[in-house]
Amino acid sequence: MPFYNNIVILTGAGISAESGLDTFRDKEGLWAKYDLMELATPEAFSRNPDLVHEFYNARRRQVKQVNSNAAHMALARMEMEYPGYVTIITQNVDDLHERAGGINLMHMHGELNRIRCEGGCGAVQTWRDDLGRETVCPSCGKAGHLRPHIVWFGEVPFHLEAIDILLRECDLFVSIGTSGSVYPAAGFVQTARAFGAKTVELNMEPTAGRDVFDEGYYGQATEIVPKFINELGP
Ligand code: OAD
Repeated sequence: MPFYNNIVILTGAGISAESGLDTFRDKEGLWAKYDLMELATPEAFSRNPDLVHEFYNARRRQVKQVNSNAAHMALARMEMEYPGYVTIITQNVDDLHERAGGINLMHMHGELNRIRCEGGCGAVQTWRDDLGRETVCPSCGKAGHLRPHIVWFGEVPFHLEAIDILLRECDLFVSIGTSGSVYPAAGFVQTARAFGAKTVELNMEPTAGRDVFDEGYYGQATEIVPKFINELGP
């Protein structure tokens, strides 16, 4: 395998599936069970904050009960051991990359374990418990203005400028466990490719965007991710 100076990894719900977290668009996925327009938009939150809080509280509790898997761990090891620069951009709001030891990590769709105050103070804070309309902001002391620090449909993902630079500079782009259905993340492969990176998809099955990738490897993330990383070397 050649040596890569800058590797960008994009992960999606498929990397956490074997830890026991639901994906979004698979047959049993979250958006098959729930109406995303009722849960994952700013309008839904203004209409029915209790329902939205309940959904994210349940997910926050569920994440506490599961563990990182071999795919998260292989990526964390690669971050430490690969002689090039490795960045993980995740669409996931769980903390399983961190719990595996991942450090150089960007949560472009936010984090379940963070909350944001929209009551004027704007503080973003770590939060591991249930959240509700009655919860008081630890920073400004006002109740009723806290929301999950999660990017909802219609909102702009985090870190986009930094991500754009990384995509232009990387020489290997690897997309893991994402269906490539949600932009802008779905378009990252095109940017990386246009600027000369080799592009690889690792997924349970070829996605609709398979043809944009130079290579694709298919199977369970816990098998194909460690295997791919071992083959990369150092
Ligand atoms: P999806 O549910 O759209 O896609 C999950 C992908 O993981 C699919 O392509 C599956 O084939 C693959 N997959 C499932 N199990 C796998 C396994 N064990 N090993 C490898 N691959 C597996 O999830 P995302 O692409 O992450 O956004 O969804 C993107 C965004 O849509 C999410 O971040 C979320 C959602 O709405 C927000 O909530 C803002």
